[in-house]
Amino acid sequence: MNSESESLLSEHELDNNLPSGNNRRIMEAQSEHQRTKMYNTLYSFTTSLGTGLLLLVLFWILHCRGGFTWQSNPKTQFNWHPFLMLLGMVFLYSQAMLVYRTGRMLQKKKLKIIHAALHLLAFIMSVIGLKAVFDSHNLSKEPIANLYTIHSWLGLLTVIIFSMQFLSGFISFLYPGLSPTLRKTLMPIHVIIGTSAFVMGLISSLTGLTEKVIWTLNGSYSSFPPEAFLFNAIGLIITLYGLLVLYLVNEPLYKRATIPEDELALTGSE
Ligand code: HEM
Ligand code: HEM
Repeated sequence: MNSESESLLSEHELDNNLPSGNNRRIMEAQSEHQRTKMYNTLYSFTTSLGTGLLLLVLFWILHCRGGFTWQSNPKTQFNWHPFLMLLGMVFLYSQAMLVYRTGRMLQKKKLKIIHAALHLLAFIMSVIGLKAVFDSHNLSKEPIANLYTIHSWLGLLTVIIFSMQFLSGFISFLYPGLSPTLRKTLMPIHVIIGTSAFVMGLISSLTGLTEKVIWTLNGSYSSFPPEAFLFNAIGLIITLYGLLVLYLVNEPLYKRATIPEDELALTGSE
């Protein structure tokens, strides 16, 4: 406890070491401050790691895979797929989930709009990423079969669950919005489905990466060329980033506390 807060305690409280009203409020404010500081430090580290991941994927595509094109060259059109899926289904998805904790001082109504807008952006990036991979199969000189791998099944299922979650979240919590009792009942389901689909997105990314490294390096993977090192590093960073996000979004200590401004919002606080 610092000297400033100590001076706010009455002598009686200090002598008897009792957590009276004043004392308790100060202790609560201090522990909220500590928790916010801890969250912000971990969040900054995690987000830097996520940004590093996207930069590394860009480097891999530009340096080793011929860059980006659209339908003029299906081979390089494919390259949009890993980049946009990681940007949408991993990075923007996780930033959207964490927004309530990161912007804890903002009014709940504003956070809901940012949460929904970031998820919508994640969805748009993913749809363009899927269009890129389907085109790269269908427009190839010798068309490649669609949807035969576990990666493609799991990936498509992830995007379908994500879309349903978006619609149900929008209708339940934003517009038109269900009754407060229903919103309260639905919230734990919303959180479980939202975090589970994120885990599915991580697994999809790792399976996609594995397929790509095996097909691209075509037998030379075991001799461990520099590109294989890059692939493995990307896979490890995806895993570490995902685990950190899951910790930050699940840890009850970091959950946003209601602020007085929330009560003024018309659609309630849940
Ligand atoms: C959450 C992230 C991802 C999702 C939801 C996803 C989804 C999909 C889907 C639905 C397909 C099927 C396309 C078709 O059949 O024409 C596909 C194909 C493919 N994806 Fe991904 N993907 C993701 C991330 C990645 C990543 C990071 C890579 C890494 C390079 C990757 C590599 C591939 C490859 C090589 C194919 C073609 C072979 C196949 O159909 O399995 N994907 N992806
Ligand atoms: C696919 C889209 C979505 C996913 C994956 C998702 C996921 C999540 C997750 C994981 C949380 C827990 C956050 C925390 O504990 O700090 C959450 C909370 C919440 N979400 Fe969503 N969500 C989605 C869409 C939406 C939409 C469209 C709305 C409409 C506004 C919405 C409204 C809320 C609300 C009100 C909370 C409660 C936050 C709190 O009480 O602190 N969600 N969401």
